[in-house]
Amino acid sequence: MELTKAHLICFSPTSTSKQVGQGIVHGMETENITITDVTLSEAGELDIVGSEVAVIAVPVYGGRVAPLALQRMKNIRGNDTPAVLVVVYGNRAYEKALMELDAFAIRQGFKVIGAATFVGEHSYHTEKHPIAQGRPDQDDLLFAHNFGKLVAEKIRTAETLGKVYPVDVRSIRRPKQSLFGLLRFLRGVIKMRKSEVPVPKAPVTDESLCIHCGICVKKCPNAAIIKGEEQHTIVEKCIRCCACVKACPERARSFDTPFAPLLSKNFPKQKQPQTLL
Ligand SMILES: Cc1cc2nc3c(=O)[nH]c(=O)nc-3n(C[C@H](O)[C@H](O)[C@H](O)COP(=O)(O)O)c2cc1C
Repeated sequence: MELTKAHLICFSPTSTSKQVGQGIVHGMETENITITDVTLSEAGELDIVGSEVAVIAVPVYGGRVAPLALQRMKNIRGNDTPAVLVVVYGNRAYEKALMELDAFAIRQGFKVIGAATFVGEHSYHTEKHPIAQGRPDQDDLLFAHNFGKLVAEKIRTAETLGKVYPVDVRSIRRPKQSLFGLLRFLRGVIKMRKSEVPVPKAPVTDESLCIHCGICVKKCPNAAIIKGEEQHTIVEKCIRCCACVKACPERARSFDTPFAPLLSKNFPKQKQPQTLL
């Protein structure tokens, strides 16, 4: 059957999920690509028809899909439309995220015909505590591109939409994880919780460095920073995505979370992308 359009739908505060999603849709070699980026605002009513394919790429927060991503995509619907689900995680684990995205996509009327898990530089990455630095890298993006090609082939070689068969996302291969690293991480988290040292709930601004350029205001997905008052973060609104930290040209924003050293130390081995078709 003909593939008339590839539609990328993404939520991606620090752009790693978007980069992976773009790699996949470009690999499909269709002239017609549309990107609906719901990072900064909710998608309007959008119905994607069966002759198109939707690639849905989202980050993992706490082993689940970033909650704001699902909220922002609620007006997007398929009509038995083939969908490829992509979760991007910071080299620790994605736990229930792919299954959650699968349930969401099916509810919205999509037929899940492929899935992938990719690693993206962790939102909490810093020079001092590197976590999956620079991912997705060139190899990841090439892998994404080739996966896109295979997805398109699956659709184009099927006689009808009914013959583009769905996949069971539970059968995707999980990345290998050293038990020792995992236990050390869990021990660190328990120790941190017991110590009762307050864990920061939002990034902070070094006022001596802030030039009030407003880039953080524009990058914040949830309006937690107000123009002219960049030294404050509305903690109740902050989703700790660290888009403001990564985008600040003056390095005035930082998020000094104790999770960063724990993640950096205990998950040093880079995990690789996995796909299912
Ligand atoms: C609040 C929060 C929770 C996160 N939880 C996880 C997690 O459970 N496992 C993991 O490996 N990475 C986790 N990450 C890292 C992100 O999944 C990762 O950095 C991802 O690449 C961000 O995607 P984006 O660039 O599209 O925003 C978390 C990040 C944030 C901000």
